[in-house]
Amino acid sequence: MNSNYQNIIENAYNLSNSLENKGKLATYIPELANVDPSKFGVHMTKVDGTHFGMGDHLEKFSIQSIAKVLSLALAYKIVGEKLWERVDVEPSGTKFDSLLLLENYRGIPRNPFINSGAIVICDILISNLDNASIDFLEFVRDLSGIPDLTYSDQIADSEKATGYRNVALCNFIKSFGNIKNEPNEVLDFYFDMCSIEMTCQQLSYTFGFLANGGRQLVDGQKIISKSKSKRINSLMLTCGFYDESGEFAFKVGLPGKSGVGGGIVALYPHNYTIAVWSPKLNPSGNSFKGMKLLEEVTTHSELSIF
Ligand code: DON
Repeated sequence: MNSNYQNIIENAYNLSNSLENKGKLATYIPELANVDPSKFGVHMTKVDGTHFGMGDHLEKFSIQSIAKVLSLALAYKIVGEKLWERVDVEPSGTKFDSLLLLENYRGIPRNPFINSGAIVICDILISNLDNASIDFLEFVRDLSGIPDLTYSDQIADSEKATGYRNVALCNFIKSFGNIKNEPNEVLDFYFDMCSIEMTCQQLSYTFGFLANGGRQLVDGQKIISKSKSKRINSLMLTCGFYDESGEFAFKVGLPGKSGVGGGIVALYPHNYTIAVWSPKLNPSGNSFKGMKLLEEVTTHSELSIF
């Protein structure tokens, strides 16, 4: 890894670590309220395979909504452009778990990253795979190079017991006919998908294919086409941070995706992916320190897609 990048990451880490963290833990999922709020890690992986990390970058955390990018990649790979008949590609401008726009748009979620959209993607995977839960896990094992990756039962069960808004979203969409399977089955898979845990190092490597034209970093294996990779990156840029997507594009200038576990992954196409983890979230549900660190990295590297 080029020493210039290392310096930039070290400075960005130290600066954002010195700020007062105004964020709050995501307590609506009881298991996430038990996480040490002081954790802070970052890891960058370049498309040439070199990598560098610091802080708690080798500790696993709940990637939550970041997994929605991977479920979208698998569904898009399987069903192609027909996918967009079931979910739109527009920023929602609302919170990630909002029910608001589903009534206006007759059960078609605005994009695949808000909860409603990710639930429809889960439904599509269930309809198109023998066993969506097992097959999706295999897909992520392959992408991440972690052969023994599993879902976290503790986190999934915690969410299954309290995920009333997601239950409401799934049933509401079903009432418009845009969920084809049993809501309970769809929600079980959705909660499993969100429960995956990874380290910053593993996460930055896993997302490498989206910085590399749809091909995995180490062996160049084609995961999705260049065009699909471009479109997933576009969606991350416009919708990856919910009602704060404009702010992230404005300050960081890269496609990215956040999760309520406090993780963010962002990427600079043909160059690098970077994963950061700090559990306290700002009011939009995005990592407070993570956003700051990434802003520092693109400001000082003077590299962004703009
Ligand atoms: O469904 C939920 O509410 C969580 N499993 C995922 C939400 C999430 O990560 C939003 N991201 N910032």
